[in-house]
Amino acid sequence: MTALTIQTQPIAGQKPGTSGLRKKTPVFMGPHYLQNFVQAIFDAIGGAAGKTFVLGGDGRYFNDRAAQIILKMAAANGAAKVIVGQNAVLSTPAASHLIRLNKTDGGIIMSASHNPGGPEEDFGVKFNMANGGPAPESVTEAMYQRTTEITEYRISDAPDIDLGRVGPTTVDGMAVEVVDSVTDYAALMETLFDFPAIRAMFAGGFRMRFDAMCAVTGPYATEILENRLGAAPGTVTHGTPLPDFGGMHPDPNPTWAHELMEEMFGADAPDFGAASDGDGDRNMVVGRGIYVSPSDSLAVLAANAHLAPGYAGGLKGVARSMPTSAAADRVAAALGIGQYETPTGWKFFGNLLDAGRATICGEESFGTGSDHVREKDGLWAVLLWLNILAVRKQTVAQIMADHFAKFGRNYYSRHDFEAIATDKADAMMAALRASLAGLPGQTVEGMEIAGADDFAYTDPVDGSVSQKQGVRVMFTDGSRIVMRLSGTGTEGATLRVYLERFTPGPDGLDHDPQEALAPVIRAAHHLARIGEFTGRTDPNVIT
Ligand code: G1P
Ligand code: ZN
Repeated sequence: MTALTIQTQPIAGQKPGTSGLRKKTPVFMGPHYLQNFVQAIFDAIGGAAGKTFVLGGDGRYFNDRAAQIILKMAAANGAAKVIVGQNAVLSTPAASHLIRLNKTDGGIIMSASHNPGGPEEDFGVKFNMANGGPAPESVTEAMYQRTTEITEYRISDAPDIDLGRVGPTTVDGMAVEVVDSVTDYAALMETLFDFPAIRAMFAGGFRMRFDAMCAVTGPYATEILENRLGAAPGTVTHGTPLPDFGGMHPDPNPTWAHELMEEMFGADAPDFGAASDGDGDRNMVVGRGIYVSPSDSLAVLAANAHLAPGYAGGLKGVARSMPTSAAADRVAAALGIGQYETPTGWKFFGNLLDAGRATICGEESFGTGSDHVREKDGLWAVLLWLNILAVRKQTVAQIMADHFAKFGRNYYSRHDFEAIATDKADAMMAALRASLAGLPGQTVEGMEIAGADDFAYTDPVDGSVSQKQGVRVMFTDGSRIVMRLSGTGTEGATLRVYLERFTPGPDGLDHDPQEALAPVIRAAHHLARIGEFTGRTDPNVIT
């Protein structure tokens, strides 16, 4: 077996976005495409020689073959060892945990998260650092730079290895440890949550539905919920991971997880419902007849986390991404703990978690997590909810009503306009940005604009600055509009419009969010001239 040096050329467009490099699967499978990017990762982190990495992915189409290529490249680049999930499968939070547990130098995660998978759908690769978290912008930028100047990569000509068998093996002299994908993660969850209390709740007749959406969380959810916590067999549906997610769009929101929504709002609905995404880092939570928005879920988890053993000592702080509603801020203020507002993307939470400034973090995009790993974690959020329900012995609806009565309610919704022509979306954002300076003082839909800017973030830990993270228009009554273009799509541009309105009094507690937000929605269309620029009047996904 030999380490070969293969001549190559830069391939345009290998720029990691909000969460790694995502492209159509045929693009990733094209000549040298994956190889160039993986070599750029190794080069950008100062080489792989002597290092140990974790490798796994969400099991989507090409996951298995990509894993063999990455292992052979790690070997040829002199890596000491790679810890791989069985069949090269690891949920993103489980991968983050393995990086930390084994004190490795980082890990490569093969995933396009909630994007559909299959021969014509999406694939992705990202690198996580030794802290278990996504590489920061400085590192992803170095990777991108490297892809623009690459001339060769190294790969072993060793045969494929059997990743189905748990245990030690080697690739061209490099140690490989194939580990069970679930065991270590499940053990971590047992340290954080009151499993006996949750088990007692299930034993008492509590019913749950968990929709794994034919994605990676199936085996994790089945082991933890059904085997360890005693939820009824069949609680987990779509529990077998499939390379194309069974044709489902594995994004846990009311649009794509509509089966779960129908069941939770139907006759004889279970007490609690949840879903997770392609790689297991997202979560959606639904009570019987009540949907919990991710921003509200973050706030409720922050307010009640002390009920779980892993957080009994209280939280150090709560961080949310800028477009996420301010509901969590109200909890942080009440608890007297730190509150942080970061740009979109989990990588911005890493420093706050490492520095012990924040314990719980969340995004409006169905992402919640804590300092137990350095990724958002779908099942973690579901288990924390279960722990809270087991202790408070109330329904989800009661818990939400209590929460709104105590903290007020931030009505919130995100409107997505997908697959817009990139030039049109760019022109719209440019015009909006150009108008910002003149907005304060103007009145739209009866609401006065208090301020407008393009969000910039200075990391309080390392001082790094991230510019142009989304346009914000703030109103004097506390309402807010945020607009930004997605950094994870693979087709054209996606405009995200984030809408928020705060109501302190009890009279505003039971409106439909779309109704409550109607003036804010109209103001957004007016200010950004969405129809004029894009030809679109209605979003195609509303969350
Ligand atoms: C989206 C979400 C963002 C999340 C990211 C990765 O990114 O909006 O909150 O961190 O996916 O899951 P976007 O497509 O908006 O750039
Ligand atoms: Zn994901």
